[in-house]
Amino acid sequence: MAATGSAVGLGNIWKFPYVAGSNGGGAFVLVYLVCILLIGVPVMMAEVLIGRRGRQSPINSVRDVVLESGADSRWRHVGWVGVSAGMLILSFYAVIAGWALSYIFAMASGELAGVNGDSAAAVFAGLLADPVRLIFWQSLFMLLCVLVVVGGVKKGLGVAVEILMPLLFFMLLLLLGLSYFQGNFAAAWHFLFSFNIELLTWRGVLEAMGQAFFTLSIGMGAIMAYGAYMPQKVNIGKTILIVAFFDSLVAIVSGLIIFSIVFGTQGIEPSAGPGLMFISLPVAFANMSGGLLIGCAFFVLVSIAAWSSAISLLEPCVAWLIEAKDVGRTNANLLLAGFAWLLGIGSVLSFNVWSDIQLAGFTFFDFLDFLTTNIMLPLSGLLIALFVGYAVKPEFINLEMDDISPIMLKVWRVSLRYIAPVAISAVFVMGIYDKFFS
Ligand code: TRP
Repeated sequence: MAATGSAVGLGNIWKFPYVAGSNGGGAFVLVYLVCILLIGVPVMMAEVLIGRRGRQSPINSVRDVVLESGADSRWRHVGWVGVSAGMLILSFYAVIAGWALSYIFAMASGELAGVNGDSAAAVFAGLLADPVRLIFWQSLFMLLCVLVVVGGVKKGLGVAVEILMPLLFFMLLLLLGLSYFQGNFAAAWHFLFSFNIELLTWRGVLEAMGQAFFTLSIGMGAIMAYGAYMPQKVNIGKTILIVAFFDSLVAIVSGLIIFSIVFGTQGIEPSAGPGLMFISLPVAFANMSGGLLIGCAFFVLVSIAAWSSAISLLEPCVAWLIEAKDVGRTNANLLLAGFAWLLGIGSVLSFNVWSDIQLAGFTFFDFLDFLTTNIMLPLSGLLIALFVGYAVKPEFINLEMDDISPIMLKVWRVSLRYIAPVAISAVFVMGIYDKFFS
């Protein structure tokens, strides 16, 4: 449940639709699903295994598994890429979650009543143009995360994932039904599931792979940290398959809803970028009776999903600072959340005052997103696959995986040793080449 809470977040509802939209749909979605199954699931299982074996913060769990396996001590550094990625992701994640928070009130106040494609875009542009408002909502969101992580993860997260996540899921199904009748569902289906190989670039493949890592919360230790709490008798393979299934389902359903609206409304393009969800959904809410209330509830649930994900970005770093540097829980939180908050202001400004400043052809926000999602997470995923595939003591693997059928165990090991490393490296090289040199 907690892993699902971490996995299902803005990555599914906000990011998946707009990245799929910018990459032409169909073929991107297929590559994304293949990456989830062939790379994501095996690496996620490996992460949980390290966490459950080490039973500490990710960095220390990795260290102990390295020691106990008698592996080369340089493997210790596997945890580092991840923890730094977590901080960087949290910095911009809180900004986007702030947008969702602000939309709760934009719905409730009637600012989004009766909008069409153009006026919804104008309301969104108005929000982006105002750094003070953006910083206010970003700060509020960060504060909410700190409150839970200070209190300890278990209590706060329990309610969120057991009651509110199913509610979010139910709400998405409701919206799916509505968009089937009111939007252009057929066009959305065609866009997401027709295989248009011409529209796919290597850069798109790299983004699909990055998105698979991002959406499953792998490659930074979040899932490792949760693995540390996982009871020994729970089956890792089954659990991870279920998490990956629901995570993908939420992404696909969100995509269908959003593109039904996009293709059924004048003036919204599938390639609209990060604002896609914030422009398209209000149009749907404006067209239904009681829509403002439903919209308000929807953005509450999205904020909660973002919150249960953001917690998993903060907790591994906090846990490490407590263990390694003997810092108290409250101080560790304030220090790290403060850092992410400060860095987040760079993302805030990249949507307005700094929108012309470019780093390697990216705005600050796009740069951090690209660096973490498409470079750091796959890189750390590659290291995790190699580490568990080659360096961890077979005894540990047999102990943690004793409830998995021998065939599945074999498939998993082949994936960690050969399929995932080769696929990640190939996509990585081709994607970077395509992005920067072609
Ligand atoms: N998976 C979350 C989402 O889809 C985001 C997230 C939470 C994440 N923890 C993570 C991404 C760790 C990468 C690594 O919104």
